Amino acid sequence: MTTMESLIGLVNRIQRACTALGDYGGGEQAFSSLWDALPSVAVVGGQSSGKSSVLESIVGRDFLPRGSGIVTRRPLVLQLHKTEEGQQEYAEFGHMQRRRFTDFALVRKEISDETERITGKTKQISPVPIHLSIYSPNVVNLTLIDLPGLTKVAVEGQPESIVQDIETMVRSYVEKPNCIILAISPANQDIATSDAIKLAREVDPSGDRTFGVLTKLDLMDKGTNALDVLEGRSYRLQHPWVGIVNRSQSDINKNVDMIIARRKEREYFATSPDYGHLASKMGSEYLAKLLSRHLESVIRARIPSITSLINKSIDELESEMDHLGRPIAVDAGAQLYTILELCRAFDRIFKEHLEGGRPGGDR
Ligand code: GDP
Ligand code: NA
Ligand code: MG
Repeated sequence: MTTMESLIGLVNRIQRACTALGDYGGGEQAFSSLWDALPSVAVVGGQSSGKSSVLESIVGRDFLPRGSGIVTRRPLVLQLHKTEEGQQEYAEFGHMQRRRFTDFALVRKEISDETERITGKTKQISPVPIHLSIYSPNVVNLTLIDLPGLTKVAVEGQPESIVQDIETMVRSYVEKPNCIILAISPANQDIATSDAIKLAREVDPSGDRTFGVLTKLDLMDKGTNALDVLEGRSYRLQHPWVGIVNRSQSDINKNVDMIIARRKEREYFATSPDYGHLASKMGSEYLAKLLSRHLESVIRARIPSITSLINKSIDELESEMDHLGRPIAVDAGAQLYTILELCRAFDRIFKEHLEGGRPGGDR
């Protein structure tokens, strides 16, 4: 791993340990400024625009509930941790830390079950997030947030306030300056009516932290194409638009796997008369690379402030550790100790490789 990969990985693990610590009612406050200093990526868009599908393709695994209607009903804070080559992939939930999931179909089931534990088997939503970590050699270090889709009307079984409630929830994530927005719009709808673009424009007027993603290119009417959007003529963003072809519902029903879906997507762009000339800058794999490159540059720019926060946290942690010792707090103590170790490791790697030297000069 490069120095940046190690640092981003550590930041990821510090965030995860802080979340775990929050469950014991301690420390979270002290570290919330650290959490806020670190970037994350949130998906925003209308219902069924393909948000969960895009996240899955970025991760390269099938594990999210998807489908028509309101499927995602609680925020899912998903942390990807890159592990060494050859290690087995596994997932772990914040609410169930002692269980390692290696079967991703069970991860999907647990997300649904845990959603229902709070919301019931209804079409209700809840702002209480589900925390999930995935450890794999095949991911990039990233925190991704899957959110319920923006809607315009309440459906049967939903309170009238749901339209506003969803918007408020989504807004609470994307208005944070450290949030990178994946604004998802389906290509088979007019971009001028995109809820994603509307909200992104409001919270990020300069477009610095917004990535426009156009899904469902395969579902456009024959004889039309999305070049005006993809080439930035319809709505210009700082970052280039990325077009995506996710699995269709019938692919999902037929259990078309991720590897095949990615290959089909690559072929779609490579052989497309409309998009062939853009093929190298389209698709889920390209989007994942684009995001991780962006994230790296953001973290690089923030390293000085992250380092000073971490040093402050080390002091706070050491004094918290002094106050521990009661048997009841043994788990919290272990978490504090973990955070302390991670902070020290970050500080050490930073000092050894980056401070004074050229950032990223190891590559
Ligand atoms: P979300 O509600 O925004 O999270 O959307 P989902 O990811 O759950 O997708 C909603 C539906 O649209 C599912 O049936 C997907 O299979 C389908 N879908 C999403 N993206 C695409 C795409 O690019 N092409 C096709 N054909 N279907 C898609
Ligand atoms: Na959906
Ligand atoms: Mg969804």
